[in-house]
Amino acid sequence: MEAQNAQRRSYQVVIAATRNMGIGIDMKLPWDLPNEYQFFQDVTSRTSDPRKRNATIMGRKSWEATPLEFRPLPGRLNVVLTRSNCHSIPTDDDNVMVCGSMESALELLAKPPYSFSIEKVFFIGGGELLRQYMNAPSCDAIHLTEVDISVPCDTFAPRVDTCLYRPWYSSLPVVENGIRYSFNTYVRRKDLISGSGVEAEQYSFLPKMVFERHEELGYLNLVQQIISHGDLNDNNTLLSKFGCQLRFNLRKTFPLLTTKKVFWVGVVEEILQLISGSTYPREKGIKHIWESDEAKEYLDSFGVDATEEDGDHPLLTGLYWRHSDASQELSQISDVINKIKNNSHDRGITLSACKLSLSSCQTFAQFYVANGELSCQIYQSSTEASLGIPFSIAAYSLLTCIIAHVCDVVAGDFIHLIGDAHVNTSHTKAIQKQLQISPKPFPILKINPEKTKIDHVEASDLDLLDV
Ligand SMILES: NC(=O)c1ccc[n+]([C@@H]2O[C@H](COP(=O)([O-])OP(=O)(O)OC[C@H]3O[C@@H](n4cnc5c(N)ncnc54)[C@H](OP(=O)(O)O)[C@@H]3O)[C@@H](O)[C@H]2O)c1
Repeated sequence: MEAQNAQRRSYQVVIAATRNMGIGIDMKLPWDLPNEYQFFQDVTSRTSDPRKRNATIMGRKSWEATPLEFRPLPGRLNVVLTRSNCHSIPTDDDNVMVCGSMESALELLAKPPYSFSIEKVFFIGGGELLRQYMNAPSCDAIHLTEVDISVPCDTFAPRVDTCLYRPWYSSLPVVENGIRYSFNTYVRRKDLISGSGVEAEQYSFLPKMVFERHEELGYLNLVQQIISHGDLNDNNTLLSKFGCQLRFNLRKTFPLLTTKKVFWVGVVEEILQLISGSTYPREKGIKHIWESDEAKEYLDSFGVDATEEDGDHPLLTGLYWRHSDASQELSQISDVINKIKNNSHDRGITLSACKLSLSSCQTFAQFYVANGELSCQIYQSSTEASLGIPFSIAAYSLLTCIIAHVCDVVAGDFIHLIGDAHVNTSHTKAIQKQLQISPKPFPILKINPEKTKIDHVEASDLDLLDV
């Protein structure tokens, strides 16, 4: 955390790097990406308090590599690190400060007047300093633009140490000047952030524009919209909104929502059951997964009575997947896999997960392959927003990840289209409370690499890390 009263400030790294972490060639950037540069400008310049500014710490060579017309970086305190005095860095400029070490810079920034006037501290390279300080204990977060190219470089950054950091956010890939890249933020694992405060506040040190990119906020905003502006039905029991879209990036993390408990065991069981095509539970001894103790506890947490009649409970609409006969389901899944493997440009790679005529929660999935990545869009005609949407996001994301895995492609996007998204009016108070919770980093899904056939995948092959 940015402890402004501490003896030393902490900082966040902001850099862009190629696949093999190349960051420079001949004292220049190896690409021309104006929008990427704009992101750098925005993240390092913006403050929430207009009376404050941010500091950017850089090595002497990075200072010299910055074109004359851009230095000092405007609107920021430029802190230049050098061990020698013989360089022409202006010392009479209020926007420039020269320091002999990272430690002395962070100590100075923790003392008045900087402790009051500097909001955030960003460390922006270059290679020599990144090798010393990128994964160091004072680094709270790393904002890394991953540029998907392989070009000659003479300066490199170290890789992000995933034992120390976990992904907070990864943008959908963008293409500029023919180069594909994505914006990624990694945060220090929570037990490693020194002096970390209240859990909900834990990631508030991130720049607002990055914090707000967490994909779970899209879901929370939707639920808020339903509660605040939804249409009330005739007997005042449901608030609903029609025509909603949510989007999740499956490339680095898995969207098991973090602000509410999602019944992961149930998600896995439902998906494996759907894949098997069976209408019977896989586990012997459990009549139905929704009758297990864990399911009851999950439903109880939302104030739902887990009884025999649950199948008809409106809150459970969207949780149930109604299976048609085994051979039909199996053939749909096989057809999807066959097309992804052998005819990936097919425009009709689709899967209907329920008998449309029988269910009010009709779900229809379509798959799409591009750039070696498998994306999935589902349409759900009606679903309950507090339980049903989080469950469906996890279930269909899992299905996408499993299919991508057995087809040897990368999981890409998951898009959730919802016709009627609703909440029960009697639950709005409890849901409002949940909406106050800040999201945490999503977990990471690992699938047993030895399982290459879809019907061989079992629950024990699906490992959710960092839940
Ligand atoms: N892609 C990106 O995001 C990005 C970001 C920044 C830079 N770059 C690129 O990176 C290259 C420059 O990086 P670089 O590795 O050559 O140099 P650098 O890390 O920017 O600067 C190295 C200099 O910093 C000073 N220094 C290093 N360690 C220090 C320490 N512990 N305490 C005090 N001062 C210290 C020394 O200056 P003295 O020699 O004066 O003592 C050293 O020569 C350029 O090509 C630039 O374009 C890319």
